[in-house]
Amino acid sequence: MASIFVGRNDDTAVDLDARYGNRHGMIAGATGTGKSVSLMLLAEGFSRLGVPCFLADAKGDLAGLSQAAGAPSEKLAARLARLGLADWKPQANPVVFWDIYGKSGHPVRATVSEMGPTLLSRIMELNDTQEGVMEVIFRVADDEGLLLLDLGDLRAMLGFAAEHAKDISARYGLISTQSVAAIQRALLKLEQDGADAFFGEPALELADLMRQDMSGRGVISVLAADALIMKPRLYSTFLLWLLSELFEQLPEVGDLDVPKMVFFFDEAHLLFDDAPPALRQRVEQVVRLIRSKGVGVYFCSQNPDDVPGEILGQLGNRVQHALRAFTPRDQKAVKAAAETFARNPKLDVTEAIGTLGTGEALASTLGDGGVPSPVQKVLVSTPTCRIGAITDDERRTIRSRSPVGGKYDTAIDRESAEERLAARAAEKSATDTPPAKAGRKDDGAGDTGGWGGVVRDAVFGTGRRQGMIETMAKSMVRTAGSQAGQRIVRGILGSIFGGKR
Ligand SMILES: Nc1ncnc2c1ncn2[C@@H]1O[C@H](COP(=O)(O)OP(=O)(O)OP(=O)(O)O)[C@@H](O)[C@H]1O
Ligand SMILES: [Mg+2]
Repeated sequence: MASIFVGRNDDTAVDLDARYGNRHGMIAGATGTGKSVSLMLLAEGFSRLGVPCFLADAKGDLAGLSQAAGAPSEKLAARLARLGLADWKPQANPVVFWDIYGKSGHPVRATVSEMGPTLLSRIMELNDTQEGVMEVIFRVADDEGLLLLDLGDLRAMLGFAAEHAKDISARYGLISTQSVAAIQRALLKLEQDGADAFFGEPALELADLMRQDMSGRGVISVLAADALIMKPRLYSTFLLWLLSELFEQLPEVGDLDVPKMVFFFDEAHLLFDDAPPALRQRVEQVVRLIRSKGVGVYFCSQNPDDVPGEILGQLGNRVQHALRAFTPRDQKAVKAAAETFARNPKLDVTEAIGTLGTGEALASTLGDGGVPSPVQKVLVSTPTCRIGAITDDERRTIRSRSPVGGKYDTAIDRESAEERLAARAAEKSATDTPPAKAGRKDDGAGDTGGWGGVVRDAVFGTGRRQGMIETMAKSMVRTAGSQAGQRIVRGILGSIFGGKR
């Protein structure tokens, strides 16, 4: 049985059975109690079993996974002896660094179209009406084969929508210029936040997060999140997007010996803080369903009640570090944490939670048949990697050896909505062709009823069919193959995220 040694006390060892690694988990505890070390321990354990992991590094201390630990101090040697780890030796893990801003790792990008109107609206903090307008804009772009890749494309589409609000409203439902203007302002703010680095190509391919190294160990993808965490909406929506992409793209699998991938969600409260109920419900749904795709999700947070009850109930593998019961909220958290454990008659959980030392925890994992083991108070095992940050030189070295750097380090800017709309505008002012004539040249464009001629001219170019074909030809394989595909994906995502389409 493949498993990860979590920790032990004098009588009992607690192991995380890899067969139930996709039944999710939780690492919780007050500041400085050992959460990050426990997270590294699990990530390293999964990696050794060949399971790729993804984690967001909010403080830079998880980067230590990429380096071997130093020679054990006296204190650590004593700990290893208590743990019975006679064969412990320092060892690094295969790590790939990612960074939305491209500084501390390979840039992670997604196209505007992949992100979809619902999640994008959340990042931009739009209201329902504005979100409705975004959906219309995506549909117009979809229908006309205009690619929405980066924020420039979105800006161009918004400008276009503002100009032709009346015609678009007639065909797709009401969009007001005020709403469009509000979205334009939100977009400006998003760009000021540096999010434009994130939207574009080459977009992240999930397969690159699911690699093994040459010795069969799972690659650990570490996302630098120190700057990102300052933009909680972007951070949480990005991780949610990643999770939902995994959900969409991976096939259903039966019971596996080890998970296909494990995803660690640090600072998990950011995902739920002021999230509307519908979104919470969707997160709950994705977390529940993604299990059947062999993906395990592990939430890390200070308080277990940072994660809503419905989700907490699905987290089978638990490592609870010390909580300090000072405020009434803390006391409630202690009580809540205690209640969610499978009872151990020999252990007073409520009392134990307040008295755990650093690197100690209450742990319960899923055993045969997925039944939670009685909670144990354990000394947590110690990872073989470095506990703590790495130097810039070390990071550079890891990055230079990365198997995927060549693919992502340089941005691509291919022809998309922005360029096409600009070209149309230029063409129009140059030739000043009456729009109606452009429509007549083609067979089908004339019957597009509610469309004004100007709209038709700008969108369809010299005719609807030709416009589409031109776009398809220019944007080649990915678009041609996935234009319809992306629409379908967004359709499903729309249902997952409660979109209004
Ligand atoms: N399992 C362990 N083995 C050895 N040392 C540990 C272990 N757990 C914790 N420590 C020690 O405790 C320190 C603090 O742990 P850690 O950084 O994991 O806390 P944390 O709960 O993540 O804190 P924060 O909330 O500030 O992120 C570590 O730097 C390490 O020295
Ligand atoms: Mg930490």
